[in-house]
Amino acid sequence: MEEKVKAIIGKYGSDKSFIIPILQDIQREFNYLPREALDALCANLGVSQSLVYHLATFYRAFSLTPKGKYRLSLCVGTACHVRGAPQISDHVERTLGIKPGETSKDLEFSFETVNCLGACALGPILVLNDEYHGQMTIAKTSKVLRSIGAKVEIDEEA
Ligand code: FES
Repeated sequence: MEEKVKAIIGKYGSDKSFIIPILQDIQREFNYLPREALDALCANLGVSQSLVYHLATFYRAFSLTPKGKYRLSLCVGTACHVRGAPQISDHVERTLGIKPGETSKDLEFSFETVNCLGACALGPILVLNDEYHGQMTIAKTSKVLRSIGAKVEIDEEA
């Protein structure tokens, strides 16, 4: 793990001012920020643990716990809520067997709910990793879930 962290730091010329992009790359590499990787980052970049942990917990995009290979975020803001986000949330929960905020044991899937993503006209919105899917229905959600290898059993139309 240390070698991978060193390679990432090297990409940025060991420049401390690139700490955020370096953390983003580490997160991309491991799907979260493992403690061992953060220790290697502190040792090799010469930054303090307190700075690294402050950044890792301040930004929502970072996670100190393992995340799935496929990360689903469902908007449950008001506009998405009234357009059916709760039913979509139920469908995702039933299909993946995890609740919002959880990751499947095989580390394939993570599911979370988020507040308004600022594109209410396209609600309900489901984000798969960095890919936005708008005007979601149960059927469209099933399609997204199947595309990532989930076994969809109940496939009622919204
Ligand atoms: S409420 Fe979902 S994008 Fe605004």
